[in-house]
Amino acid sequence: MKIKINIIVDFLMTILLLFLVSYQIVSEKMHEWLGMTMGILVILHIFLNRWWYKNLFKGKYSLMRIIQTIINFLILLTILGSLISGITMSRYIFPALVPYNNYMALSRALHILSAYWGFVLMSIHLGLHWSMLFSILNQKLLKIKKKYLFFYIILAWGIASYGAYAFYKLNLFSFMFLQSQFIFFDYEKNLFLVFFDYFSIMILWILLSFYTIKLLKRNIFTKK
Ligand code: HEM
Repeated sequence: MKIKINIIVDFLMTILLLFLVSYQIVSEKMHEWLGMTMGILVILHIFLNRWWYKNLFKGKYSLMRIIQTIINFLILLTILGSLISGITMSRYIFPALVPYNNYMALSRALHILSAYWGFVLMSIHLGLHWSMLFSILNQKLLKIKKKYLFFYIILAWGIASYGAYAFYKLNLFSFMFLQSQFIFFDYEKNLFLVFFDYFSIMILWILLSFYTIKLLKRNIFTKK
């Protein structure tokens, strides 16, 4: 039961994250509500995985554990950054706060910085846990047979290659390093395609981190 709740929460968070970063596909009001829902899910996620925090100072730190711990803390920072800056800019849920925000430009910069770093880091986080996530997903939902796995891997790399192009086209690096703060929202564009851009970028980072870790563990050369 607990594992089911965990999977549902993780799945909802992933979908919400995609809707939040592909900002133009929902209204601003909806964006704020989705953002707040994400905040609640994050609290639930932390609660469900509270053993992780309890074990922080126990046991040895392997390279993998160090990487995971750093990434988890960075994700926590980016989520707090997105939530706090989002709330201070909110025009619909917390409009009373806006007149007191004399640092709107700073809030916006923090929001952009946290949102895009958070997006990339959360995708990497998924990649680091991909073996476990995929085996549960496959057992319960996808039911992909081993002999067809190869085709799905090719498909995933196809989507990831498009993701690399979308990452470049959307200029996400420049937002992550605050080189630019003016995102061009193409309102003519089909909303499904906007969503697919971010989805493929997520797949790209999931695969990159999954295979990097596989390489680091030197498992890539053994059939496991
Ligand atoms: C993990 C949570 C969140 C993510 C990933 C996220 C992501 C984004 C992104 C990508 C944008 C477009 C950036 C731009 O304006 O150029 C944006 C804008 C915005 N977000 Fe969020 N957001 C999150 C949570 C929230 C929350 C909780 C609120 C408010 C309650 C909020 C309020 C806003 C507002 C008001 C804007 C428009 C800012 C402007 O004037 O340009 N966001 N968000």
